[in-house]
Amino acid sequence: MAKTAVVTGGSHNIGQGIAIVLAEHGYDVAITYNKRREGAEETKAEIEKLGRRCFIYQASLEKAEVPQQVMDRAHRDLGRIDLCVCNAGNGGFRGSVLSVTPEEVNQVFEVNFRNYILCAGAAARYMVADRIAGNIIFITSSRWEMAYPDDYLYGGFKACVERAARSMALDLSSYNIRVNCVAPGATWNPPKGMEERVNSPFVKESIPLHRVGTPRENGEAVAYLASDAASYITGITIRVDGGLILPGMLEGSEKIPWVREEWKQKMYDRAMAMMKREE
Ligand SMILES: NC(=O)c1ccc[n+]([C@@H]2O[C@H](COP(=O)([O-])OP(=O)(O)OC[C@H]3O[C@@H](n4cnc5c(N)ncnc54)[C@H](OP(=O)(O)O)[C@@H]3O)[C@@H](O)[C@H]2O)c1
Repeated sequence: MAKTAVVTGGSHNIGQGIAIVLAEHGYDVAITYNKRREGAEETKAEIEKLGRRCFIYQASLEKAEVPQQVMDRAHRDLGRIDLCVCNAGNGGFRGSVLSVTPEEVNQVFEVNFRNYILCAGAAARYMVADRIAGNIIFITSSRWEMAYPDDYLYGGFKACVERAARSMALDLSSYNIRVNCVAPGATWNPPKGMEERVNSPFVKESIPLHRVGTPRENGEAVAYLASDAASYITGITIRVDGGLILPGMLEGSEKIPWVREEWKQKMYDRAMAMMKREE
């Protein structure tokens, strides 16, 4: 019998990549979309080409009752839930805490935290009832560890998910349900004609592996964590970020081998020019 997975936000980018990679690994899949039905149809077509089943559901996951409804439908259509990948999130909000509103906090909380917890709970209840040694995987972000001045809500709630995952790993261990996270860095599948943006000098120089990540690379990390090869792994995070968060401040950057000479010179010249302006 094929294994089964639910992937939230499977109509675009990372979620689409995860759903397709899981199908390649033999899963039948149910995906959700919010607004991009055509993206969900594209994912479904790719999965069906692989000879696997794919169900698609519209789901506005910021609504508290929707996660349970998604898992109910997925369980009915797939027959069981072996893997739940909580991916649908929204990194759009950026701002200063000096101007925060209650509405902004709620908006980020509902999609990036409450939705994840409620999806995981609903999927885990089915796994327990069906006696399935299943997996829950949260897609978080390298931003849960590395702070930027304007991402205290998005990064903060991603950190909440990471911490919650570790408690859930303990909570569900006696049912043999494993709970892990995948933390992407900058990840983008560029549409044709936009490859140049992805290959900009800024991206090439500031990410140690000199490129953005791909949705597929996150999919492979998910497939591994959910596989029997990872049967003794629970409560961890795999970063899929090309080393993005490792360097921190480029202190003594002249000694950092992946930063090229021209780039260092450019940064130095820019800093000098700024200092001159300030004098
Ligand atoms: N891309 C990155 O560089 C990056 C880096 C770190 C972490 N992440 C995390 O990885 C996950 C996926 O990111 P992505 O870049 O692939 O995002 P994306 O391209 O914006 O796609 C987001 C997916 O989630 C769905 N979605 C968004 N808001 C929703 C809502 N309120 N209710 C239900 N579904 C909703 C979207 O549905 P529709 O398309 O149908 O509207 C889409 O399928 C997110 O959790 C994000 O925080 C991304």
